[in-house]
Amino acid sequence: MRTDISDLGTIPASDAAEAADRRRSIRAYEATQIPEADVRELLRLAGRAPSAYNAQPWRFVVVKDPGLKGALSAAAYGQQQILRAPVTIVMYSDMADALARMPESMHPELPRDKREAGVVSFLATFNGKSVEEREAWGNSQSNIALGYLLLLAEAKGYGTSPMLGFAPNKVKELLGLPPHVKVTALIALGYPAEDGFRPHRLSSESLVLFR
Ligand SMILES: Cc1cc2nc3c(=O)[nH]c(=O)nc-3n(C[C@H](O)[C@H](O)[C@H](O)COP(=O)(O)O)c2cc1C
Repeated sequence: MRTDISDLGTIPASDAAEAADRRRSIRAYEATQIPEADVRELLRLAGRAPSAYNAQPWRFVVVKDPGLKGALSAAAYGQQQILRAPVTIVMYSDMADALARMPESMHPELPRDKREAGVVSFLATFNGKSVEEREAWGNSQSNIALGYLLLLAEAKGYGTSPMLGFAPNKVKELLGLPPHVKVTALIALGYPAEDGFRPHRLSSESLVLFR
């Protein structure tokens, strides 16, 4: 019996299956603003995603300013959902910061020598790797949190539109992000003003083998 679930938030775990079944990309939004507390809670819960070494390389910029959203839309080849949504989240991975904060990321209940060994092992993993390789690894971890975020938003009644169609250097320049970081996705977020397309997927039977 788990006793440490008091801070899991208000989303019942049983909603995950329904949220996964229901979720689809939403590209038109009500003009209504989203409470900032909801955005903070969504991002806190997205950060509950697991990551190798517990590195947690994901970082977020919440863009609400209309002028900045306009510039972001231009950097995303004019994608209109950025203008229509009250909020667009720029999610990126920053492995330089994750490496620097590794001692903080190690579980405090681990014995000290295990924590220190974990930090050494994590640093060694990236020895001799290029910045691009390192950030690609971080991005693969950040995509786990992206999946969490999309599901959590759906479970809270919000629509989302994840986007990879943007010029990363322009996005970084607009937000003053350091050149080494990797932008994982832009995510428009708001109350849906359309149904979106009915989810269409390859049949899971065609993708799964049991041996
Ligand atoms: C990482 C990622 C990047 C995407 N990039 C874009 C994009 O730039 N523009 C867009 O309109 N849709 C984008 N999509 C939406 C996909 O086209 C969509 O998720 C897919 O067709 C399945 O449809 P659904 O989300 O409605 O279920 C992206 C989705 C993901 C997960």
